[in-house]
Amino acid sequence: MSDQAENLRRIVDGIRTGGVPEQTGEPDPPRCAKVITITSGKGGVGKTNVTVNLGIALSRMGLRVVILDVDFGLANIDVLFGVTPKHTLVDLIRDERSIFEVLTNGPENVKFLSGGSGVEELVRLDNRQLKRFVGNIALLDKLYDIILIDTGAGLSRNVMSFIMSADEVILVTTPEPTAITDAYALVKMVSRRDAKKTIRLLINKVESSREADEIFSKLTTVAEKFLSLKLMKLGYILYDESVVRAVKQQRPFLIGFPKTQASRQIAELASVLVSGSTAGESDDGRGAKGFFQRLLSYFGTPA
Ligand SMILES: Nc1ncnc2c1ncn2[C@@H]1O[C@H](COP(=O)(O)OP(=O)(O)OP(=O)(O)O)[C@@H](O)[C@H]1O
Ligand SMILES: [Mg+2]
Repeated sequence: MSDQAENLRRIVDGIRTGGVPEQTGEPDPPRCAKVITITSGKGGVGKTNVTVNLGIALSRMGLRVVILDVDFGLANIDVLFGVTPKHTLVDLIRDERSIFEVLTNGPENVKFLSGGSGVEELVRLDNRQLKRFVGNIALLDKLYDIILIDTGAGLSRNVMSFIMSADEVILVTTPEPTAITDAYALVKMVSRRDAKKTIRLLINKVESSREADEIFSKLTTVAEKFLSLKLMKLGYILYDESVVRAVKQQRPFLIGFPKTQASRQIAELASVLVSGSTAGESDDGRGAKGFFQRLLSYFGTPA
């Protein structure tokens, strides 16, 4: 194996276990998935496009990816994939189906699950159902490396719960002043709950890298000064007509238009995400299982 390939494998293992492992000869710690919530203050800034294409880019890097669609208004991961799912989270909860039965195959080995009304039903589960649910979710840790969660826009309690419970957050904004203001409002709400939360900023639909840099520096400066929260830079995606065309064709742009700017940029973002991965939570708080336990406690249900 070349040095570069070996290095990537170690980074990938780091993502699975929550930090790049030292080569100590010790047995590997149990694997678990990394949960990344993708969110925004304002709607329509590109979250769903980022989620599906980032998912494919990460899958091409050899990572096993599941996307969870928890947009309560319009679930549309399936629309962008051009695939109609047979099941949603509701079937996992109500019909006692296993996690493997409810996942749908998207392109390039990416799996996805629509939350539907299932997320709201989670708060009503009795102890037996909850135990079964968390047991099923824990299986995701064994089989997947990354769980991307696409949320709706805005500052609802549900969306905040998905943000606060995740290992990492990708906050998408565009250069529009309204989108920037809403992104800042979201960062403010997060900082009140946890000023150490890892938030990575992605500026979408920019005209130039310079425009992205200016927005990034404006937002990081105010967040640090007024909220004491350190925002991280994930990167930017240029405004690109091929994204609009790909949406109309119901095909992720990375597949439909692999050579365009947006495709090259999303591939770069995937590498930045993998190489800059931060260490995860303490052992029992990591992974999909830890995530859902935190989520349930945010929802006010004992898990
Ligand atoms: N880089 C880009 N260049 C050009 N157009 C883009 C780009 N990114 C997204 N778009 C356009 O913006 C629209 C909205 O994108 P998307 O559905 O991903 O946003 P969203 O944040 O998920 O929206 P919602 O808040 O409704 O869930 C897309 O249909 C697409 O036409
Ligand atoms: Mg969306």
